[in-house]
Amino acid sequence: MSKNILILPGDGIGPEIVAEAVKVLEAASEKYNLGVELSYDDLGGAAYDRYGTPLADETLERGRQADAILLGAVGGPKWDTIEPALRPERGLLKIRSQLQLFGNLRPALLYPQLAEASTLKPEVVSGLDILIVRELTGGIYFGQPRERRVLDNGERQAYDTLPYSESEIRRIATVGFDMARLRSKKLCSVDKANVLASSQLWREVVEEVAKDYPDVELSHMYVDNAAMQLVRAPKQFDVIVTDNMFGDILSDQASMLTGSIGMLPSASLNAQNKGMYEPCHGSAPDIAGQGIANPLATILSVSMMLRYSFAEADAADAIEKAVSQVLDQGLRTGDIMAADCRQVGTREMGDAVVAALKNL
Ligand code: NAD
Ligand code: IPM
Ligand code: MN
Repeated sequence: MSKNILILPGDGIGPEIVAEAVKVLEAASEKYNLGVELSYDDLGGAAYDRYGTPLADETLERGRQADAILLGAVGGPKWDTIEPALRPERGLLKIRSQLQLFGNLRPALLYPQLAEASTLKPEVVSGLDILIVRELTGGIYFGQPRERRVLDNGERQAYDTLPYSESEIRRIATVGFDMARLRSKKLCSVDKANVLASSQLWREVVEEVAKDYPDVELSHMYVDNAAMQLVRAPKQFDVIVTDNMFGDILSDQASMLTGSIGMLPSASLNAQNKGMYEPCHGSAPDIAGQGIANPLATILSVSMMLRYSFAEADAADAIEKAVSQVLDQGLRTGDIMAADCRQVGTREMGDAVVAALKNL
């Protein structure tokens, strides 16, 4: 049965990195007989330019019908001043929410070859392997009411709302515990329960779910401390489960432990493991169009797709192995460049991964 994959390159470096990830996907498909069928559409600024909206209804429907989605990134200065409801980011939030992709897995894994690329000391990060499980369809990103208004005294005011319901917390906590069970059986739930009502409920529900996982060691940490601990001693963490906004921030922070944000892939899954796969980084307008972006986060997102949506563990492993071999060869994009390595562009990096994959 063929695997129907919707490709949404997006904006900025999106099309550049997705082109390389697609080459790798096609090479993996050929080698492992995966039978992938690709179709393309626009999301974000590209969709706004084409359809007048950052997520067209027909694109959403195609996403619903697809077996998996591969996304580049959306957004950029060109669209920063348009009406907020039509911003590229809204298209991304809508597709996540409409497809109920609540479970966002963001693995921060340090390839040993990149220990020197991290801004932290090699001994602090070597062997690092953290999984951040981020709640992706609730919390302050979606809470109502949210409003911008003018007060009676003429001052402008704006506010957002941070709601979490019991069921939303339970289902993401369950993902966290399930992941912890597959790894080192340690789960750290990150919240701000010393201040926020939503975090107090979060902690309570996570404790309730923990009763079903007596084999998993659960700890809780406030988000400010977690941010500090991630830099002080990141290897104390294995799986972190946290809310939408905290997970957004902590995953960008964790990416630097691995050398670059250009190394961090992600999977966003619904209850049936239907998924959208994308790098954690954005559209990098500062380097877009130059052919120098690191495509590895997107390529590794393809590996996550094969693992989580299609249970093709061999093909997924092979992509990760090919990436590792390319790093062994000393090839580096600018963001992970180091002494004695050879700097390459986006396309050359993609080609090298394809070649390594074919030769495995
Ligand atoms: P960004 O992640 O796009 O860029 C931050 C920095 O990291 C930049 O200096 C950029 O050059 C660098 N960088 C990012 N990815 C890289 C890669 N693959 N290789 C090399 N360097 C890379 O974050 P930003 O600048 O805050 O946001 C830019 C735009 O992207 C905004 O419109 C934002 O809303 C959007 N964004 C989209 C997503 C997404 O689509 N999932 C994620 C984050 C930000
Ligand atoms: C991410 C991005 C998005 C988020 C933005 C672009 C809406 O930063 O995927 O990490 O905040 O979730
Ligand atoms: Mn982010």
